[in-house]
Amino acid sequence: AAVESAPAIVVGSGYGASVAALRLGQAGIRTLVLEMGRLWNTAGPDGKVFCNTANPDQRSMWFRTRTEAPLATFLWLDVVNKDVSPYPGVLDRVHFDHMSVFVGRGVGGGSLVNGSMAVTPLQSYFAEQFPTVDTAEMYGTYFPRARAMLGVNTIDPAWFESTEWYKFTRVSRKHAQNTGLKTTFVPSVYDFGYMQREAAGTATKSALGQEVIYGNNFGKKSLDKTYLASALGTGNVTIHTMEKVTGISRAGDGSWVLSAERIDYSGAVVETKQYSCTYLFLGGGSLGTSELLLRSRQSGTLPALDASVGAGWGPNGNTMLGRANHLWDTVGANQSTMPVMGIDDWANTDNPVFAEIAPLPTGLEHWVSLYLAITKNPQRARFSYGSGGLSLDWSGAQSAVSSGMAKKLFDRINSANSTIYRYDLFGSPSRVFADDFTYHPLGGCVLGKATDNYGRVKGYSRLYVTDGSLIPGNIGVNPFVTITALAERTMARVLVEDTAP
Ligand code: FDA
Repeated sequence: AAVESAPAIVVGSGYGASVAALRLGQAGIRTLVLEMGRLWNTAGPDGKVFCNTANPDQRSMWFRTRTEAPLATFLWLDVVNKDVSPYPGVLDRVHFDHMSVFVGRGVGGGSLVNGSMAVTPLQSYFAEQFPTVDTAEMYGTYFPRARAMLGVNTIDPAWFESTEWYKFTRVSRKHAQNTGLKTTFVPSVYDFGYMQREAAGTATKSALGQEVIYGNNFGKKSLDKTYLASALGTGNVTIHTMEKVTGISRAGDGSWVLSAERIDYSGAVVETKQYSCTYLFLGGGSLGTSELLLRSRQSGTLPALDASVGAGWGPNGNTMLGRANHLWDTVGANQSTMPVMGIDDWANTDNPVFAEIAPLPTGLEHWVSLYLAITKNPQRARFSYGSGGLSLDWSGAQSAVSSGMAKKLFDRINSANSTIYRYDLFGSPSRVFADDFTYHPLGGCVLGKATDNYGRVKGYSRLYVTDGSLIPGNIGVNPFVTITALAERTMARVLVEDTAP
């Protein structure tokens, strides 16, 4: 088959990939983006592009016969998950032995399915995790650049205090305050102006219509509406969808050669393709980039990769849990899917936790306060690649560190409010803390270890990593703003030093 070549290729189309594509395109470099998922721009039979969490169909999950939502059950009934037909749906859940990882699939990667929380990490913790990065420059230049491009906005506090859609958040705030804990608003890339129109009945409901993990039809500034739209606007960027890059090798003339498999909507491989480029940017996410590099080392085509490729992985300490409220403390049947507040106990050096107040939008009063706790779990794991594909040596004992930290915080909250945990949410009454899945896979190609200080892969030239695999396992807040800002920093450097003629 003919080899298609471009000066630059970007693998994936999530945060790191989209930044690379835009900045390459603006620099006048013709760039090809290869994404394994589909482009989400065509309405299904119901007139909508995405399905909601209440009625998931084939669009929900990546080649499944049944959905695998984070909350397995409700009141011990398996009412949450539904049978679906296999299709390249927008949310994937990748299973390893003791950890499963939620990731987005499609043009825009995780931005299509995530909760929109756009949080800049604490500067001191960023410095702790990235000792070789100039933090003044990050906080002065790259974080502001990332937030502006992503369209970060904040909820109007007066509307927040009055709307029924955030009563669940105000109840959880009260319980945190009763415990003597601090809460803080969390910025978002969901357009709060749009959300207020949803509440007023003048715009089609999306965040207020139970849409989130299977995509939002309106309101959300996902990457296809920000970075990727601008990238295409340069005229230099092309996106190929439904193509998974399976291997990387280097030709005699120093150019990169990629093999890719194009699949159809049934998942069948319909074509094997070959690409070549001068500059190669990996943005497949923590799992995608780690898999691609380890697979290429295993097959002998990238033998000089550093031994630390695959290492330094962590789930950002993620733990979900629910509390049961008193009958008089109603959380409301109407809940926005976009979280806007966190309980910030990160400064508690004995047990640093940042816990987001999460919605559970069922359309019925359920008295549940739900949380996604991000804990400062120091445990790390390593990916490897073998005959069974990608594996991860994360253990149950390592997860127990996350849930142990979450428990310490929420035992305090329960005790101050005379409340208890909910036992019916995660599949079995003995599972109060869901610590065996993560939304925030981080690491596998850590900055300054597997790469130089700017994401250039050690052992090779003109090979870059721009995604969440650069972050060493934990960043203390939701990660996409950090991933975006680090990618901006890499691109600024690379376009000055590496691509100049
Ligand atoms: P990302 O995962 O976004 O993109 C990788 C892309 O590459 C995908 O589209 C994938 O299909 C593609 N790909 C992978 N391998 C490939 C290959 N070999 N060939 C071709 N394509 C390939 N974060 C946050 O900050 N705030 C939040 O509110 C949330 N909430 C949240 C909810 C849910 C349900 C999820 C799943 C995740 C979040 N996150 C989040 C996490 C956030 O979405 C995540 O950290 C980023 O999307 C990661 O960005 P990356 O650039 O690393 O890759």
